[in-house]
Amino acid sequence: MRTETPPLIRLEEYRPSDYLIDRVDLDIRLDPHATRIDATLTLRPNPAGVPAAPLTLDADDLRLVSAELDGAPLAPDVYAATPSGFILRDPPPRPFALRLVTEVDPTANTKLMGLYRSNGVYCTQCEADGFRRITYFLDRPDVLAVYTTRIEADRTEAPVLLGNGNPVEAGDAGPGRHYALWHDPHPKPAYLFALVGGRLGKVETPFNTMEGRTVSCAVYVEPGKEDRAGYALDAVIRSMAWDETAFGRAYDLDVFNVVAVSDFNMGAMENKGINIFNDKYVLASPETATDGDYAAIEAIIAHEYFHNWSGNRVTCRDWFQLCLKEGLTVFRDQEFSSDMRSRPVHRIAEVRSLRARQFPEDAGPLRHPVRPRAYAEINNFYTATVYDKGAEIVRMLRTLIGPEAFRAGMDRYFADNDGRAATVEDFLAAFAAVTGRDLDAFARWYERPGTPRLAVTAAYDPAAARYTLQFAQSLPGTADSDETPLVIPVALGLVGATGPLTGATCPDVRDGVYVLDRPEAAIVFDAVAEEPVPSLLRDFSAPVKLDLGLTDAQRMRLLAQDSDPFNRWQAAQDVALRLILDPDADRTEAFAAALGRFLDGEALADPAFAALVLALPSEGEAADAVPAEVDPDAIHRGRSDLRTRLGQVLRPRLEAIDAALVPDAGVPYSPDAASAGRRSLRNAALDLIAAGNPRTGAARAAERLAEATNMTDRLAALGTLALIPGETREVALAEFATRYADEPLVLDKWFAIQAQIPEPGTLDRIARLQEHPAFTMTNPNRVRALIGSFAFGNPTQFARPDGSGFARVADTVAALDSTNPQVAARLLTAFGSWRRLEKSRGAKAVEMLNGIKAIPGLSRDTADILARTLG
Ligand code: ARG
Ligand code: ZN
Repeated sequence: MRTETPPLIRLEEYRPSDYLIDRVDLDIRLDPHATRIDATLTLRPNPAGVPAAPLTLDADDLRLVSAELDGAPLAPDVYAATPSGFILRDPPPRPFALRLVTEVDPTANTKLMGLYRSNGVYCTQCEADGFRRITYFLDRPDVLAVYTTRIEADRTEAPVLLGNGNPVEAGDAGPGRHYALWHDPHPKPAYLFALVGGRLGKVETPFNTMEGRTVSCAVYVEPGKEDRAGYALDAVIRSMAWDETAFGRAYDLDVFNVVAVSDFNMGAMENKGINIFNDKYVLASPETATDGDYAAIEAIIAHEYFHNWSGNRVTCRDWFQLCLKEGLTVFRDQEFSSDMRSRPVHRIAEVRSLRARQFPEDAGPLRHPVRPRAYAEINNFYTATVYDKGAEIVRMLRTLIGPEAFRAGMDRYFADNDGRAATVEDFLAAFAAVTGRDLDAFARWYERPGTPRLAVTAAYDPAAARYTLQFAQSLPGTADSDETPLVIPVALGLVGATGPLTGATCPDVRDGVYVLDRPEAAIVFDAVAEEPVPSLLRDFSAPVKLDLGLTDAQRMRLLAQDSDPFNRWQAAQDVALRLILDPDADRTEAFAAALGRFLDGEALADPAFAALVLALPSEGEAADAVPAEVDPDAIHRGRSDLRTRLGQVLRPRLEAIDAALVPDAGVPYSPDAASAGRRSLRNAALDLIAAGNPRTGAARAAERLAEATNMTDRLAALGTLALIPGETREVALAEFATRYADEPLVLDKWFAIQAQIPEPGTLDRIARLQEHPAFTMTNPNRVRALIGSFAFGNPTQFARPDGSGFARVADTVAALDSTNPQVAARLLTAFGSWRRLEKSRGAKAVEMLNGIKAIPGLSRDTADILARTLG
């Protein structure tokens, strides 16, 4: 049996459920191998459904123990139960109670969907469709019920028992057993169900909401790691306060719990009242976590908390609307982080990640609209497009209507849809209602896959002091953009020789924004006293690729003079990108000189920003800029030669920065943005010094490694050293492994650094690391650290001409598919770039993909990615 292309579920085929579930009463007895789930569902026919239709419940790998209807056992001829479904042929045409008992084995659950055990802790993951692995259910987001959950367990094995909502009571349940009863008053879809049972330590603190509720907030972690949970707890409190002031949203239960588990397929999950996290996004101490980890913890804690309104109180009608909660919630967490940190620096980080993950997706075989119209496996649509491009759409909406109208629209959206399962149309309707604007054309952003191109030409008429900008938009890969253009907000300004031109006027620009809503248009500025350089898409006002064709000199003017920090950074990136793809000695010297002036002027005034200016575009980003036949080796060479030269020319400045930013002895580590910014610039300086002079660099990095007092500096030094072959590197790597042998999250960093070494020896190294006692295929973080970092972060070795890099990843996908298809399928997406690679490398990739395809019984997750990638 060869794997078939899985069937598609289509948006246009959506219809309401024939039945609704008002109440769910669960009695769950936790047991390592035989957990009993006794579920009573209070159902009724849906007035919007088909009358007298059979009741069909979803299931995945379930075993039915018993079934009752309104208290009486079900006769065998009126229902059918299989591992994948339950059918009740003639349900009563009135409300009824269906009691179903199932039994599952949490220890054997390697897919980490449904109820499973992570390091002995019972936990659940139900989004998108894991609840059907716990009990038979209408497992769709538009069926909202009130849940009461009794959890029973062995007292020693699971002293802590957590569920959704508020704790009601707890007590003894016979010899050695105890129970806890939880009630969640807010109707919710099944994907938000969760429970946790285990030995856990906690840190907690109260929060008083603006509505006068005292919320007990807690973060639960492995016992002994409580001292690493404080930052996450602090982020919870700051998130709660921020959502009140920024969006007027208060928390709505008496408790808010965060639980960290070590085996988790994704980042975290917003279950009502009990957010379950990959421990990587909770645990932090200066010794084990980097500044980047702290920032990610803050962002993800906020993200999951913000879902309480954007996702839970207002949920999604169906999974096609996933961006309704994810795009919006990413936008909200980005705003939060921007308020907590430096807004321009954070914006640059957002765009870098959009370009690194979403642009390639949008340019490859896995491209899809922000609101997909069809899917075979929904778990494959938790993508950068849905999340990050989804967030960009919300941001553009705010830019178009302004912050006040945006806030009014959000209030309207929450008010109109509270307690409902909504759609993208409902979201836009709220903004249309408060502004009186027609947002139909804007809505095309949700439907159109692909990154639009914005081509701009400029003309200056000195005699008339007039400047004209001509815009043309296009959507590569589609023919229809002429008739139905996108609505693109272009934030812009003009920059003269000594700074922004303030006198210029243009009737089409309002509050610094021109809205392009036609395929082509020209705008005219008057009173332009000198020929300016246009600064377009300020703050990256739209997720498009800009063709503007500035000269290096014009770009250097933007770096030096623009008032928009994003475009200052962008200008340096643009120069560097051209130099990576098309090396040129003279232009490199000019660039180095401009960077030198920039560093002299302001490196120490805003170190975080300066570090970003020094960070050249990644190899992936450079590959994205090549039209076809990508040669990763040429890109790697171009980029490292540029780094080498910059490191040599800028050496004195970099040394000065290094010396100026030595941390004050005795001042304890603090993860705040300013301190992190100083560390990032000092580490960027070291890295460039090493690029310019590897011998000095290796010695210096080894020294830094020895004197580092925190993981940020230690890992940065190790990363610098990792690029310099030799004994120093190997010794440092070995010492690092010994030092952190008992720290799984730190070992992940160690695996990841080595997987990304851009040298031919890396494949052998990976083979050795897969044999390392600490390597395991059952922990998703570990697999992603080693194999994921290789596939996504080592372009030259992954795409080796002999195909051996592809083979390593393909073998891992094949080995993982039957135990954890979600993680396997995600890994497989690394092959999405094959069509754009040099022909012979692309052919090798296809060979590997066909090898996977020949495996019988592939999961739907992997089969779906495979079919689309080869498609
Ligand atoms: N809703 C979660 C979050 O973004 C992610 C769930 C991912 N689920 C999945 N099956 N991939 O916050
Ligand atoms: Zn989310």
